[in-house]
Amino acid sequence: MDHFSYQGGRLCAEDVPIDEIAESVGTPFYCYASATLERHYRVFVESLGDLDATVCFAVKANGNIAVLRTLGNLGAGADVVSGGEFKRARAAGIPASRIVFSGVGKTDVEIADALKAGVWQINVESEPELETISRIADSLGVTAPVAIRINPDVDARTHEKITTGKSENKFGIEWTRAHEVYTRAAGLPAVGIVGVAVHIGSQLLDLSPFKDAYIRMRDLVAMLRADGHQITRLDLGGGLGIAYDGKAAPAPDSYGALIRSVVGDLDCQVVLEPGRVIAGNAGILVTRVIYVKEGATRTFAVVDAAMNDLLRPALYSARHSFLTVAEPGRDDHLREMDVVGPICETADTFARDVALPNLRPGDMIAVRTAGAYCAVMASTYNGRPLVPEILVKGDRFAVVRERISVDDLLARESVPDWVVQP
Ligand code: LLP
Repeated sequence: MDHFSYQGGRLCAEDVPIDEIAESVGTPFYCYASATLERHYRVFVESLGDLDATVCFAVKANGNIAVLRTLGNLGAGADVVSGGEFKRARAAGIPASRIVFSGVGKTDVEIADALKAGVWQINVESEPELETISRIADSLGVTAPVAIRINPDVDARTHEKITTGKSENKFGIEWTRAHEVYTRAAGLPAVGIVGVAVHIGSQLLDLSPFKDAYIRMRDLVAMLRADGHQITRLDLGGGLGIAYDGKAAPAPDSYGALIRSVVGDLDCQVVLEPGRVIAGNAGILVTRVIYVKEGATRTFAVVDAAMNDLLRPALYSARHSFLTVAEPGRDDHLREMDVVGPICETADTFARDVALPNLRPGDMIAVRTAGAYCAVMASTYNGRPLVPEILVKGDRFAVVRERISVDDLLARESVPDWVVQP
């Protein structure tokens, strides 16, 4: 479900015609619908029923501060994985008391800053990190609220690059060592154990790996309590998948029901870190056709967005679907094309064999499901600028990140005087 639909033959984000935004900011650009963000957040929260739950949006999915504030205003906390994301969440107005800090490589400075700001929970990913947090907290005269991220060795059955809960992955501490590591944590001077955390991967289209992991967590909570640890919070991570190309995805309701049935009676506050399921369908990338190229064996629509703007197809072979910005007529016949960007790599292919109306140079198309893990993963490869982000609400739109132009980038570069000008 999203809020991108045709009104009077024009693709609109809520009530704003996409062609009007294009007229104002040029192409390519990302466009987010507040109504979808808000709806998905609410549906997710409602699926948890009367469970004592805190939903911390995974900032890595979409870090734009207008998006974060939209969610924060509904009560969302934030799951962050760097000092930069921590800053973004704070800049959006999300209090540190609703921020969880995850990630395998937190630096001393990032840990100190988070502790000084009063971070709600730090998810610890290794024993050296545990020692470091204790040392820093001690020097600041505070107690660090920690949950230990457990690696449950469960196969999430998702793309290998985004699976995180197998023993060979770099994340968390093996579940078989939980007893030992919690005992060690309890002996440290400036660490306060608040709970247990787990996250097994992203874009899960089947709920059974969640069930396996959560049952393991349930058993672990019982064991740790028997050891005398106060486990009051259970952080179950993110990972719920969404439909990209018409594939069926699990409903948040079934996910919520699963959580309630497996851990609902543990007397723990449950923390969730969804990203994609909240933001994915709330965004599109709008791009314009530059050329239609008749190749020897296929037809290419060469568009002005590229893999630097939206990396998912190149990196994960992800299949996003498309809409034309002008509604196709009933009699328009479809033809199969490859949608490609201008970058000098064959990987710069958004999709192969997509059935689209007969595109002409100047026509615009929208890449759907581009609200999560798209703008955040952009780069300036091939000397390309970073495209603007637009937030729509009802019949209004605002540029929530300006285009970062090549001139902006060049202004931060310099040539040392020992590299002489010829
Ligand atoms: N919590 C932790 C600790 C995570 O590592 C992640 C995602 C999440 C929460 C949020 O997961 P979600 O609900 O969004 O699935 N760039 C990839 C996705 C990487 C996800 C990494 N971790 C993509 O474009 O598919």
